Amino acid sequence: MRVGFLQLRVKFGEVKANVKKAVTFLGKVEDATIVLPELFNTGYLFKNQRELNSLAEPLTKSHTVSEMKKIAKKRNLHLIFGMAEKKARSVYNSAVFINPKGKVEVYQKVHLFDREKLFFTPGKALKVVSTPEAKVGIMVCFDWIMPEVARCLSLKGAGIIAHPANLVLPWGQEAMKLRCIENRVFGITANRIGTERRGTLNLTFTGGSQIMSPGGEVLVSAGDRSESLKVIEIDVAEAQDKHITPANDLFADRSPGLYSQITSKAKRK
Ligand code: ACM
Repeated sequence: MRVGFLQLRVKFGEVKANVKKAVTFLGKVEDATIVLPELFNTGYLFKNQRELNSLAEPLTKSHTVSEMKKIAKKRNLHLIFGMAEKKARSVYNSAVFINPKGKVEVYQKVHLFDREKLFFTPGKALKVVSTPEAKVGIMVCFDWIMPEVARCLSLKGAGIIAHPANLVLPWGQEAMKLRCIENRVFGITANRIGTERRGTLNLTFTGGSQIMSPGGEVLVSAGDRSESLKVIEIDVAEAQDKHITPANDLFADRSPGLYSQITSKAKRK
């Protein structure tokens, strides 16, 4: 199975230009599943709700979705990309999945980071989508901090975790290697590069997009300086074998009966 990431520099608010650039990159590949960054079309540092509302799009009436559908069909691509999704009165920090036939599915980010909590509504469900070769679980950026997310996606059968990101903390890429090791799944993190400046706000995105094996090995990565499209071949069947040693099957060795605190909203003691 061919999988890849597109690491991008994004211009805040320039949806058409950001989408056009991504589509130009994607026109160079075919027959692959490709992950793009979180909020790749709008940028990240919204000043207020009004600004976010003006850039968010309903999935059924979206320039971004319609352009991504076209390139997915033309190049036989499965795409997973981040965008601000307007739905009823809410805006979600979503990751959209599109297949070459134009099917659209969506994951709405559950674990919002920092100022995202001011403007976005958190999602309420985890999501696994299907390509012909593999089930793909979707997380968005800061979801990495909750190991439960990657675990649940893996238990739902995902062999690959697709991870659109705008990583700013120093540990995301390292933690994602662990998420792969502890679930024996492949991981694809697609991050941004560059600094976004919005008045007194600014953030530098750390690049380092990477594809990881079920053993946590980095199979291919990008630096933090340039935009980069990387596609490699993986044997996704490797993610079906959950053995760490001949005697240790990661899933069979779990003792869920001991983990009830994880699924209850228990207060900290
Ligand atoms: C993040 O979740 N965008 C850090």
